[in-house]
Amino acid sequence: MSDKEIDRFDVKVDQERIREKDRDTLKVIESVFDFQTSMLIVKLMNKGIIKDIGFCISTGKEANVYHGVGYKGEELAIKIYRTTTAEFKRNWMYVEGDPRFKGYKKGTYSFIYTWARKEYKNLKRMNSAKIRVPVPIIVEKNVLVMEFIGKKERAAPLIREVNLRKPHKIYAQVIDFFFKLHEDATMVHADLSEYNILFYQKKPIFIDVSQAVLLGHPYAPVFLYRDIANINRYFGSLRVDVIPNKELYEQITGTVPSPKIMSMEF
Ligand SMILES: Nc1ncnc2c1ncn2[C@@H]1O[C@H](COP(=O)(O)OP(=O)(O)OP(=O)(O)O)[C@@H](O)[C@H]1O
Ligand SMILES: [Mg+2]
Repeated sequence: MSDKEIDRFDVKVDQERIREKDRDTLKVIESVFDFQTSMLIVKLMNKGIIKDIGFCISTGKEANVYHGVGYKGEELAIKIYRTTTAEFKRNWMYVEGDPRFKGYKKGTYSFIYTWARKEYKNLKRMNSAKIRVPVPIIVEKNVLVMEFIGKKERAAPLIREVNLRKPHKIYAQVIDFFFKLHEDATMVHADLSEYNILFYQKKPIFIDVSQAVLLGHPYAPVFLYRDIANINRYFGSLRVDVIPNKELYEQITGTVPSPKIMSMEF
């Protein structure tokens, strides 16, 4: 069996297991989530947002993402931020300096809730600017519900998992994302790489935007330059004739990046 086949098999096994459990969704919730998160999911069920919660799409460093179904039968992605993680410590700098989160309270829980809310707000802002991101539906404490990118319980793959036939075309769309994000949403993604771009219906979709910042953020230029460097590294490795980092930065911002920005250090 190839790696891909094994992956597919694993997904199937998981799905079967969940389906079995689905007879009593509450049982699943209780066994997988901590008490507080279970209560939040029940709340979202009572609110008529989530009908079912199913298999785990991904277990990341900061959050797990689950497949869900809404009351109209629509598929949902439910991102649940872990309330116990040291990773969050490094994230202070993305919230500090963001005027939208001026009054946030310190303390782990409230920080994680703020972080989830930040991802929701960022998705909303990008969505309004017509940028290809999952449509956010609701955020409650550490639970973010959004549009599921994929079909029939199959999540879209990351671009790095796909053998792109025309990588230069996808590169051009990612460049377009940089411009739109800068001009229309006035933001920087700040964690852009082949790990945070899904490939769906032959086009890129941008995810994982909790750390995205507004252009006014003191580190926005450094984050932008780092995003550009990451994208160019990846598409360069696919033999795409990329626009050099510095040139692309100038095209997007209309300014020359300083040596400090180009060193990508804070
Ligand atoms: N809306 C969505 N639809 C389908 N799949 C999704 C969606 N959002 C996230 N995923 C899947 O879940 C994975 C993790 O999501 P995301 O990158 O937002 O979380 P994360 O906690 O930052 O994960 P990591 O630490 O692995 O970067 C993605 O790589 C993708 O496979
Ligand atoms: Mg991610």
